[in-house]
Amino acid sequence: MTFYFLNQTSITEFILLGFRTLPELQIFLFLLFLVIYMATMAGNILIMVLIVFDCCLHTPMYFFLGNLSCLETCYTSTILPSMLTTLLSGDRTISFSGCLTQYYFFTSMVATECLLLSVMSYDRYLAICNPMHYAAHMSGRSCLQFIGCSWLGGFLGNSITTLSISQLTFCGPNDIDHFFCDLIPLINLSCNDTHLMEMLAFTLILIFSLLPFLLTLMSYICIIATILRIPSTTGRQKAFSTCSSHLTVVTIFYGTLLIVYMFPTTNALSDFKKVLSVFYTVLTPLVNPLIYSLRNKEVKEALRKACRKCRFGQC
Ligand SMILES: *[C@@H]1O[C@H](CO)[C@@H](O)[C@H](O)[C@H]1NC(C)=O
Repeated sequence: MTFYFLNQTSITEFILLGFRTLPELQIFLFLLFLVIYMATMAGNILIMVLIVFDCCLHTPMYFFLGNLSCLETCYTSTILPSMLTTLLSGDRTISFSGCLTQYYFFTSMVATECLLLSVMSYDRYLAICNPMHYAAHMSGRSCLQFIGCSWLGGFLGNSITTLSISQLTFCGPNDIDHFFCDLIPLINLSCNDTHLMEMLAFTLILIFSLLPFLLTLMSYICIIATILRIPSTTGRQKAFSTCSSHLTVVTIFYGTLLIVYMFPTTNALSDFKKVLSVFYTVLTPLVNPLIYSLRNKEVKEALRKACRKCRFGQC
């Protein structure tokens, strides 16, 4: 009881409702997400190892890709393991501090990912549209600065919302209609006036998602315009296919994020938003290594080299 008075909070745990499906489907969902989680971890760790150990891949573009993979292994690990345990055990409760921790790490990493993806598109823009100035603008030092600022920005920005949520009072009910602790369901459960918080969250979404999205879009438009001027047809086709696949995954990532956080949640929309959330929480980290790295000629070559070395027992 003392705890309640001290904390001004009468709720110490939440219940994550997750997907409203038949109980028989839970085991299917568990297996599906388990396979996705293992594939995500394997793909991203493989890329990190290749990039760190292969000297041919020590260029800014691959440093960004390696750091993206590193971010994505952490990113999925904030959501999927707890989701898998819930699906398997059926225990849907999560403590208030557990919920807040999950919220903090996940949202900070989403923001970092948004910033990093836009930095990566800027890197490609410089390399393709402005090759004369590439070396001057993208030195090892500025590469490190871009990466550092992405992490710092993501984590600092979300400290503000996390601190504000920790000050909210929750008086029940404590059911979160989602599969992880997210901002909007949490705000909806609070019995304080959350007007200011909603404004703050909206501003952060603008800064960390909409702005990077527009920058990314602009970079890709310049890149595509440059590619279309390449005289050889085969070179043009290849560059275009690479670019359009990047643009597709980036648009799905930012697009689902923006729809989920910028549109008000009505009852009819809440299930749809849950499905959209699967895209940026689970599917983006799964497909990014495939789209960005494993399609790449140099990465394929590095992989082949590594396999050859292993076969001859040199590792
Ligand atoms: C991340 O970037 C830094 C500097 O740009 C680089 O030294 C490091 O190897 C990268 N990490 C990975 C896993 O690629």
